[in-house]
Amino acid sequence: MARKLAFINYKGGVGKTSLIVNTAACLARLGQRVLLCDFDTQSNASIWLLKLDRWNPINTTGVGAVFSIFDPGKVRVRDLVIRDVLTDKAGGHPLKGLDLVPTTFNLVDLESEYTGDPKRPAYLIFQEQIAEIEKDYDFILFDCPPNILRASQCGIFTANEIYVPANPDALSLIGFTLLIEKLGRFHQLSASFRQASMGPAAQVNGIIFNAIKTGVDIEVPRMRMQLRLNQFKAAKRTAKDARILTAFVRDAMVVRRAVALGMPVALLGQEAAGDNVVRDYEHLAEELLRNPPTA
Ligand SMILES: Nc1ncnc2c1ncn2[C@@H]1O[C@H](COP(=O)(O)OP(=O)(O)O)[C@@H](O)[C@H]1O
Ligand SMILES: [Mg+2]
Repeated sequence: MARKLAFINYKGGVGKTSLIVNTAACLARLGQRVLLCDFDTQSNASIWLLKLDRWNPINTTGVGAVFSIFDPGKVRVRDLVIRDVLTDKAGGHPLKGLDLVPTTFNLVDLESEYTGDPKRPAYLIFQEQIAEIEKDYDFILFDCPPNILRASQCGIFTANEIYVPANPDALSLIGFTLLIEKLGRFHQLSASFRQASMGPAAQVNGIIFNAIKTGVDIEVPRMRMQLRLNQFKAAKRTAKDARILTAFVRDAMVVRRAVALGMPVALLGQEAAGDNVVRDYEHLAEELLRNPPTA
């Protein structure tokens, strides 16, 4: 079975998308077969990896977008997978093993306009379709928006591990706290749909600090986050081995540049050569790889 990871925090702009895209790329470079599913209607990960010229037609027609598995519902997730999603100027595939299920802006309709069968919530439909293809992957990653509405629920219900990107500030701590509360409620609501074959409902396994500025001491925010994590752990509201990951990602201009260039940082070549942030993402990928959750 693939390891299935959701990246989520109730705070926007903490680095969920940049962490998931760059970590996915590093995992693929380590030889892992990786599928990234974009569940954020803002489509940042999809636009980043496809660039606008390949993403625009999907957005205009809706054909190939993740929302199409729900409405009109005639295709399945396996039909939407874009294999080896990155392309270079020559039309080659510079990174084998990183696949994408893209989203477009119409995913927002899942929240209100979509009225499916109440006995088959969107997250169950998605989970069943991922189960059909998960043998093809080592990692399936879900990029979620900062809420647990229906799109996020697809990622959270299907995942077996949750990682919380955080900045060293009070708002990230609040976002984490809110996430734990909402997650508990969602697990209760969805419990009747969970079968043994799906594995346990995902709990928070780790906090990932992102965008740490040079010279800024993060010991105090780290300690505050650790205290909060300890409280939730004691109350059994996180995974029992939940931790702040040792790997963290520094603040670096090249991370923002990478979005404009349509490449993960690790594939920027000269542009990022020698930038330590590449090593940060590699460390993060290695740490995730080394530490599958304990049962
Ligand atoms: N390590 C970093 N260094 C510099 N800028 C970053 C870093 N991580 C994220 N950013 C920038 O911060 C903004 C928000 O990041 P993003 O990954 O989109 O967050 P989220 O998905 O949580 O909303 C983006 O402009 C992104 O390029
Ligand atoms: Mg995002």
